Amino acid sequence: MIGSNVEIRRPHLVSIGSHVAIDNGSYITTAAQIGDYVHIGPYVTVIGGPNAKFIMGHFTNLAAGCRVVCGSDRFMGEGLIGPASLPDEYKDKMKVAPIVLESFANVGTNAVIMPGITLAEGSVVGACSLVTKSTEPWTIYIGVPARAVKKRPRATMLRYAAELGYLNGATPLRSPC
Ligand SMILES: CC(C)(COP(=O)(O)OP(=O)(O)OC[C@H]1O[C@@H](n2cnc3c(N)ncnc32)[C@H](O)[C@@H]1OP(=O)(O)O)[C@@H](O)C(=O)NCCC(=O)NCCS
Repeated sequence: MIGSNVEIRRPHLVSIGSHVAIDNGSYITTAAQIGDYVHIGPYVTVIGGPNAKFIMGHFTNLAAGCRVVCGSDRFMGEGLIGPASLPDEYKDKMKVAPIVLESFANVGTNAVIMPGITLAEGSVVGACSLVTKSTEPWTIYIGVPARAVKKRPRATMLRYAAELGYLNGATPLRSPC
């Protein structure tokens, strides 16, 4: 189910699984591979352009207003920063690196995820957190920058997913886009 004003800028670079909801106002400019039973809340932005990639495993969620930054200017004075109409030779250098949410990872509202981050299986990012390092599995992180605060039990989630046909949540995703 995709909201009427969701913008997927490059749909030819995006694959979407079964039982996926993408709510109104969300905006995706990157290549993306979205698994099954995924919810992308309202006004989520996934940015970085056509050379950037975003992967969401099964049972992953992004809450309202998250920013997933798969590519960014480097801001080190190597070029100008501005709209796409800047001539290429004058543009800043980019940091572009895939962001991956492994199965059962969740991101709270208004969190920001930086380029190259992997949210390991079952990890959770609290509301308004800034994620600058990859996370450990089944661990909850909060803060700016995000720090681990506690572990998250996994048995019930894995059992329920198995009952839905996802052994260890590990049913392989389709081929990478
Ligand atoms: C991270 C989270 C899961 C922790 O929940 P919790 O274990 O019930 O935590 P508590 O409310 O008991 O708070 C524990 C401590 O962490 C702090 N804290 C909780 N969430 C925080 C956050 N996102 N950022 C910074 N600090 C946070 C609390 O202030 C509290 O601090 P204290 O011990 O000094 O008083 C939850 O706070 C959160 O952010 N959930 C995401 C909500 C959301 O965005 N949902 C989207 C719709 S589903």
